[in-house]
Amino acid sequence: MIFYIKQNLWQNLSKWLLPRLFLATIFATGFVALTSYATQSAAGDQDTKANSAPSVPFQYGVGMEIYQEKCSECHGKWARGSDKGPSLLHPFYKPSHHGDESFYRAALFGVRQHHWPFGNMPPVEGMTRKSMEPVVSFLRWWQKENGIR
Ligand code: HEC
Repeated sequence: MIFYIKQNLWQNLSKWLLPRLFLATIFATGFVALTSYATQSAAGDQDTKANSAPSVPFQYGVGMEIYQEKCSECHGKWARGSDKGPSLLHPFYKPSHHGDESFYRAALFGVRQHHWPFGNMPPVEGMTRKSMEPVVSFLRWWQKENGIR
């Protein structure tokens, strides 16, 4: 009798468990395959990598937002350049070559084309010295993160 119950239990259990184990294995394999594909394609795709979001410290958040609203159209979402303007992570723009003042001047008065073939940078509408302050802090931090110092 005890033997019978045990056997029955095992039979029921295996009926229940085995198909589920089988499905779980299929899902797990699929998941691993998908995630490794995603990391591979991200690494291989310059565009995805260039636009992947860094974790920006809280104190640079405001600067990042103003930057992305006012500057990213030409300098790229993460300042890596676009077809309308240069990357601000280029060594040209390290602090000793283009001091903070040149950043304020660029935003407020524009830049005459001199380093690149993109044309002039027009003054950025709506920017003030005050609203440029957090942008400069954000960009200097982001340059440092990218080895531009
Ligand atoms: C309409 C496109 C455009 C926008 C918007 C724009 N820029 Fe520019 N920017 C340019 C181009 C093009 C140059 C390169 C000029 C050259 O050196 O040939 C440039 C150059 C610069 C430079 C280098 C200045 C120098 O003295 O050589 C800085 C700094 C800069 N931009 C910052 C900014 C900031 C900050 C913003 C946002 C507030 C911004 N730009 C928005 C197009 C743009």
